[in-house]
Amino acid sequence: MFLTREDEALSNGEHGEGAEIAMSVLVKLGEMYGADKMLNVENVHIDGAAYGWINDSGLELVERLCNSGACFRVPATLNPSSIDFDMWKELKVPSWVAEKQFRLANALKKMGATPTWTCAPYQYGADIRFGQNVAWGESNAVGFANTVVGARTERLGDLADVCSAIVGKYPNFGLYRDENRLGQILFEPSKKDLETFDQTDYGILGFFIGSIAEAKVPVVSGIPKNVTTDQLKSYCAAAAVGGSVGLSHLCGVTPEAKTVADAFHGSRPEERITIETDQLEQTRQKLSTLKRDDPDVICLGCPHCSVQELTRLARLLKGKKVKKDVRLLILTSRAAKTLAAEMGAVETIESSGGKVIADTCWNFVPFEGKTLMTDSAKMAWVSMSRFAEVGIGNMDRCVEAAVRAMC
Ligand code: F3S
Repeated sequence: MFLTREDEALSNGEHGEGAEIAMSVLVKLGEMYGADKMLNVENVHIDGAAYGWINDSGLELVERLCNSGACFRVPATLNPSSIDFDMWKELKVPSWVAEKQFRLANALKKMGATPTWTCAPYQYGADIRFGQNVAWGESNAVGFANTVVGARTERLGDLADVCSAIVGKYPNFGLYRDENRLGQILFEPSKKDLETFDQTDYGILGFFIGSIAEAKVPVVSGIPKNVTTDQLKSYCAAAAVGGSVGLSHLCGVTPEAKTVADAFHGSRPEERITIETDQLEQTRQKLSTLKRDDPDVICLGCPHCSVQELTRLARLLKGKKVKKDVRLLILTSRAAKTLAAEMGAVETIESSGGKVIADTCWNFVPFEGKTLMTDSAKMAWVSMSRFAEVGIGNMDRCVEAAVRAMC
């Protein structure tokens, strides 16, 4: 791999021990994946921000980097942590976990991270543009950066993101390279379906496309102009877990793919798939093992809810009470929670019996309950091993399930 004079200076310790460690990790990674050179990146989103993901060895590395005096060279945002920093006691998180998460948070902030603690940094906190090279972890965020913003990022692993923020570089492989961004499979959903899709339907579409495309680049025709950011968020999250899609060309949305021809750069698709309504219905059934809409836990916010989702939820819950034997949990960022609280939405949700949790991911919330309902295709799929039964339904249906007996 070609290294510039600056890359070599970072590698051989001229910029301190932290930069030397970070560069050695990135150079090894580049060699493993056949990178030809290092790229300068302008922004990093750090997935390895939760103690629960990186554990003691990760914490030790981050603290060592911090104690060496390393600072982030580029703006860096943080994915959810293992705790809600205000409510961890109430949520019954063990104090040893909280103590280690606080240590990790302190080290990351000292190096210069913006404490966004969200998996939707593109909605609150991150500032990226079309054509920029960035270095993002968290699969839904990677999908969103590539697909919706048109920035370029590979799918970063935990701690490679921290290393990247320290040196402002990442090896040039995968989705940074033009040839790996070409569309490969054309998906054609029906116009009639797309016109009626809600946010959950976009998740189901993403899951279906991901399960066929796997790691290839899907091109999707017909996405309406009025698709919302929250719908695109659901699509990207589910495409990444249905397969491992890091870039979709949603024609008319993705900046580098205004048309189907743009997405394929004039070449022919490897495959062309017309998506039938019943195929999406089968996908919905695959994501739903819950026999009736009477779950123990209802969880929204995977990826984190936006202000718009929180205010909509508040409108749906106004004047209603969540059933005593149901836990309604909503995951969001601290930024969105603060804004929604100013609008009165958090109070409305919580006075109905819901709980709005910030800074963290449902993976770290000690749920009590055997059955789950969610509006998120990603969460439905990923949580199947944790619950006896999992159901998927849009926000309206989740609210109905939460309050039905008390209306
Ligand atoms: Fe976010 Fe956790 Fe879902 S990080 S995307 S809430 S699995």
